[in-house]
Amino acid sequence: MPKARLPKIPDAVVPPPLRKPGKPGSGGTPKGQAPADLKTAPPERQSAGEKLLEVGKEAPIDALGWVDQRLAASGFLTGMLYRKVPKGTNWFYTLGSATLFAFIVQAVTGVFLAMFYVPSATQAYASIAHINNEVPFGQLVHGMHKWGASVMVILIFLHMGRTFFFGAYKYPRELNWVIGVVLLILTMTMAFTGYLLPFDQRSFWASIVGININGTGPVVGPYLSDFLRAGPELGATTLARFYAIHMLLVPGAIIALIGAHMYLVVKLGTTAPPWVKADRPKIASPVSHLEAGANGNGRVNGSGVNGARTHGEPVDGEGNGAPPA
Ligand code: HEM
Repeated sequence: MPKARLPKIPDAVVPPPLRKPGKPGSGGTPKGQAPADLKTAPPERQSAGEKLLEVGKEAPIDALGWVDQRLAASGFLTGMLYRKVPKGTNWFYTLGSATLFAFIVQAVTGVFLAMFYVPSATQAYASIAHINNEVPFGQLVHGMHKWGASVMVILIFLHMGRTFFFGAYKYPRELNWVIGVVLLILTMTMAFTGYLLPFDQRSFWASIVGININGTGPVVGPYLSDFLRAGPELGATTLARFYAIHMLLVPGAIIALIGAHMYLVVKLGTTAPPWVKADRPKIASPVSHLEAGANGNGRVNGSGVNGARTHGEPVDGEGNGAPPA
């Protein structure tokens, strides 16, 4: 099948250090000569208004430059945004970013809901009714938060499935997998604690079922359900506890862990799909040129990271890398 040609990235959006240098002699003005456009049409003098407009246009770029000189953020952003991705990267790799986007939507809509929600057993239900019926765009924002919760749970499972089936949990990414597992538990905790907040019949009885299910867990189960209920019966104290967990404790932990998760993704890169084979090493040279005990990778015994063979064949077929006699 003929390969589709990828569109060229315009030079303007590529940072200078990554731009392909032009051929020597191409472009620019020949030494000792005025640029061609100056010869034919000298620039007209700008009026004060035009100058002001020019300065106004440059102002946002100047302001960004000012901040960048002090933060050196562009180097960091260039490193992060212009990373090489492995061959075979496909749409399934967008599931992590989609989960991140769902979390951001939850955070933003949650802030607006918090402006009107009252976490009290007597007023919670009425405050939700107020949001839905009277607050401008209240029903939309509430709906986005409610449906967004399910979307985030579905996306996080799909993303976990992708990383599992592509073997992305293996060395050196085990820690990122473990962080992911904690993120999964925290996301489920958000969904569970948020469900009680409207304090209607459905959320009340569903939370009792959920707390009782937690209570059936081994060893810690009964303690966990007592902690969640915050009293002998589900009531005002339970609502206050769920609200604090939902609004303060868990979002803070999720933000911190997403930061660590992203740091590791940028540092380690993403995993190639399992069906993509590693390239043969470019430095492969005739066996007679190699020192005894080294293979074409320049590594002893042909072993790569974690002792696994990454590229190339063992030199002598036995795997010990010694040149044949
Ligand atoms: C709030 C939840 C999460 C967010 C926002 C998130 C975000 C991301 C993003 C943006 C990436 C890079 C792109 C990609 O591979 O999709 C990534 C990679 C990864 N995530 Fe997550 N993730 C979350 C939860 C999880 C969970 C639950 C797991 C597994 C239990 C997990 C394990 C991984 C692993 C192992 C990688 C590396 C993938 C690779 O090397 O190809 N993440 N995550």
